[in-house]
Amino acid sequence: MCRGVRAHIGQQHRFAHTVRVARFADSLAQAHQQNAERARVAGMLHDLARLYPPRVLLLESQARGLIITEFERRYPVVLHAPLGAELARELFSVNDEAVLSAIRKHTVAAANMSMLDCIVYLADGLEPGRDFPERSALVELAFRDLRSAMRLTIVSSLRYLAARSLTPAPQTLAAAEAFGVSVRDQEVIAAGTA
Ligand SMILES: [Fe+2]
Ligand SMILES: [Fe+2]
Repeated sequence: MCRGVRAHIGQQHRFAHTVRVARFADSLAQAHQQNAERARVAGMLHDLARLYPPRVLLLESQARGLIITEFERRYPVVLHAPLGAELARELFSVNDEAVLSAIRKHTVAAANMSMLDCIVYLADGLEPGRDFPERSALVELAFRDLRSAMRLTIVSSLRYLAARSLTPAPQTLAAAEAFGVSVRDQEVIAAGTA
């Protein structure tokens, strides 16, 4: 699988990220008594479509009958997650719905997330190649308490988007609500943009 992923991604930088996400997801799964192999496979395959140009993301998604939301039309890059799940199925014969779901939700999260979905989302956002001030605290939290780590990682990503005047995806806002992002958290996000 490793060689196939490397060939498909075709860029060392993105492939190295992929391997780090797979390893991180594996350790997180073990820490939470979840299936490490599923986590590793989802990690390895999560960014198969990450380097597709916007036009290709739209065309390839359309060709597979994926429903394209208004937000995805505006920001086609987020389509690399649902399209990635389709590619995992087609190119790597992954039929495990749990793995495909984790790939689908790794970018914008969702209101309903399984433990595996959370593990892959956190591994993608917190792998050692990421560089932001709260990363190490979030990593430590992710090994102890997945839900809290989800809540604070979503806060951190909303703050990142707000600071750059980018709109969060509706699914990310739904996830924020589902994971209990509070009014206080919202204030922290707003303060970060001031
Ligand atoms: Fe991604
Ligand atoms: Fe990624």
